[in-house]
Amino acid sequence: MREIKFIDLKAQYLSIKDEIDNAIQEVLLSSAFAGGPFVKKFEEDFAKIHGARFCAGVNNGTSALHIVLMALGIGEGDEVIIPANTFIATPASVSLQGAIPVFVDCRESDFNIDPELIEAAITDRTKAIMPVHLYGQPAEMDRIMSIAEKYGLLVIEDCAQAHMAEYNGTKVGNFGSAGCFSFYPGKNLGAYGEGGAVISKGEEVWKRIQAIKEHGSFKKYYHEYLGHNYRLEGIQGAILDVKLKYIEAWTEKRRMNAALYRKYLNGLSEIILPKENENLKHVYHLFVIRTKRRDELASFLNSNGIQTNIHYPIPCHLQHSYQFMGYKEGDLPVSEKLAKEILSLPMSEQLSEEDIVYIAEKIREFFKK
Ligand SMILES: Cc1ncc(COP(=O)(O)O)c(C=O)c1O
Repeated sequence: MREIKFIDLKAQYLSIKDEIDNAIQEVLLSSAFAGGPFVKKFEEDFAKIHGARFCAGVNNGTSALHIVLMALGIGEGDEVIIPANTFIATPASVSLQGAIPVFVDCRESDFNIDPELIEAAITDRTKAIMPVHLYGQPAEMDRIMSIAEKYGLLVIEDCAQAHMAEYNGTKVGNFGSAGCFSFYPGKNLGAYGEGGAVISKGEEVWKRIQAIKEHGSFKKYYHEYLGHNYRLEGIQGAILDVKLKYIEAWTEKRRMNAALYRKYLNGLSEIILPKENENLKHVYHLFVIRTKRRDELASFLNSNGIQTNIHYPIPCHLQHSYQFMGYKEGDLPVSEKLAKEILSLPMSEQLSEEDIVYIAEKIREFFKK
């Protein structure tokens, strides 16, 4: 039976093996393990490719979100507006600061935070909006920025799933005070371990972040702020810098694969294909379809060797860890409905047209039964 992995990281490694092996060797031979020159080089290159003034490498995407909240002074009792349909790290970073995530429903058409619902969630304690560019499609940044301006709010972009994505020709992460990225192995740009980064146009914020990730110090053993050890490892910096050379080509391949899914799944009335909005570049971290028979379809595909996933089966406001906030089923109906229907199909630059033809054939076969 044909086996199609959700994402094939081994195949990706083998396609650039020599360069990766050499990069790791270089770090080992120079003993630059925690932060250091390989991280600095990657920070400069990532800032450049993402059109940002500053970049700080950190140890994962959750830390990237948390360190920005710390650097912007968001804390006890402050409210931060967040889409309910996201990975738990987005609201958790807010809660870690003693601040309160205020969940807003998402838009059925594109899964992202519904800008029409944001104003109703603003109170005099609201400090920031944290849009997530979910699945690789930018949120409605024009609307979000104008609401933020009207109410004097900060904007922190969760770009964990959206490396190289663009909104009106500008790369994500450049709209608000900072953009936070994850380099978790399965991300569009993935480390061989954990990694993350913050980009910013503000020098002050960037400097504070540089200090906070080093125990709040600009100079070793002199501590200006309370901080963390949120450093990116040298080996990850070197690996990410190799992979960065391929990110444009890999992004185009993902976009091509999305187009192939649309071609081969066209006309199938039982599923809804993801909508790509105008004036933006979706980078297809995930290709998420919808169907009322989601669980049956997932198990049929699985029994035919095709791995799928659900991002995410429970919206954040209904997660056990947020029970204390008192949300109940029915509060954010669009996110709740989508959670029951969404299915992420295999997606990566390693996926071939033959793979997609096979997946589409199996999906059609399932709905014929
Ligand atoms: C939307 C979103 N935000 C934040 C994160 C956190 O990133 P990390 O896993 O690198 O901590 C992720 C990663 O899965 C994510 O998908």
